[in-house]
Amino acid sequence: MEQRRILVAVTGGIAAYKVPELVRTLIRAGAVVRCAMTREASEFVSPMVLQTLTGHPVRDHLFDPSQEGEIDHISLADWAELVVLAPATANTLAKLAHGLADDLVSAVLLATRAPILAAPAMNVNMWEHPATRANLEVLRSRGVHTIGPEAGELACGWEGLGRMSQPEAIAAAAESCLAPNDLAGEVVLVSAGGTQEPVDAVRYLGNRSSGKMGFAIAAEAARRGARAVLVAGPSSLPTPAGVRRIDVGSALEMRDAMTAEFDAATIAVMAAAVADFRPSQSSQRKIKKEDLPDGAGLTLELVPNPDILAELSRTKGERTVVGFAAESHDMIEAARRKLTRKGCDLLVANDITQQASGFDSDTNTVVFVWPDGQIEQLASLPKREVAAQLLDRVMKLRGESQ
Ligand code: PMT
Repeated sequence: MEQRRILVAVTGGIAAYKVPELVRTLIRAGAVVRCAMTREASEFVSPMVLQTLTGHPVRDHLFDPSQEGEIDHISLADWAELVVLAPATANTLAKLAHGLADDLVSAVLLATRAPILAAPAMNVNMWEHPATRANLEVLRSRGVHTIGPEAGELACGWEGLGRMSQPEAIAAAAESCLAPNDLAGEVVLVSAGGTQEPVDAVRYLGNRSSGKMGFAIAAEAARRGARAVLVAGPSSLPTPAGVRRIDVGSALEMRDAMTAEFDAATIAVMAAAVADFRPSQSSQRKIKKEDLPDGAGLTLELVPNPDILAELSRTKGERTVVGFAAESHDMIEAARRKLTRKGCDLLVANDITQQASGFDSDTNTVVFVWPDGQIEQLASLPKREVAAQLLDRVMKLRGESQ
């Protein structure tokens, strides 16, 4: 969001106390932020706090000549590349749905040509009222983006939907609104994380994959307008905004989920570290040492798992299929062999012996390997940036094949 101009429009609800944190999060992400607020909002959060954080005067009145002199409300509406309405009260949503402009925020909302992201917050009964539902429907049909509200205990004492989303989630949604929409119409299916192959009721064979690489690809795809489906091995990472997540455990479960979702997909990326083998049998009960003869070892027989990537590639048709390869030596040659054997359109090789690369790191150093033998080495980059570069290459491939 480097240097992107975001206007945070604040209306009068208790959730306004979260706005300073939202503003800080947006500024930390590189955005230039200004705030406008209703008079009621200034009862909940001080304009001075927002002015100090943004470094810009905060407007709260439509007809104050001194404020109009600094930047008039139309210039403010024109200045914004995105307006984040947070909290969005039932009253302000209703005004926008009906084209009313009787205070600074509603006037700016009506005048702006920038996309609007609304983060509603209100009492659960107000949220569920048919009038609010209808207003939201109108706003969404006109392209207003919304995030939340979340369910939980409300400041008014009621329980239910009505809490404003957390500042980090609103900032992530803001980033999506500003992103290019170049993946609109694509359905991106991504596998992430490691698989766990059950040995008995408590043990499994697993690997060190955290899911970070695959989650970053799904997040980036959603941010750029794709429908993103994430088939995730066991991982504690939060589901990225706008991504549909399917949790799986073993390689067989991952294969079932990937196969079921592949029909509707246009792009599939296998970033998961799938176990090549699983125990031929897994005990429903815990295997106990005392059940074995004294000093005896335990031998596990392993059988091969299906190769999901190879299976998907065999039936890919018009789809673009991408594989990953985590290698510790002879990386390029091994990656070229894998690409040919598995039949995918592009292979992303990462050298796991390098520092801050591969498993569980926030960065990755990758080489793109193409079917014609060409390679393209990238510098060490945050996994989110690797994801962006990968999707750029995929879109180029799709453009060329049409
Ligand atoms: O999750 P992180 O901690 O962020 O780590 C990211 C990563 C290192 C796991 C990721 O960048 C990566 O390299 N994933 C592939 C891991 C791997 O070693 O794959 P492989 O060489 O075993 O398999 C090659 C390709 O075939 C992969 O796309 C894999 O998903 C796929 N495969 C493998 C075996 C199998 N039975 N079915 C498959 O589909």
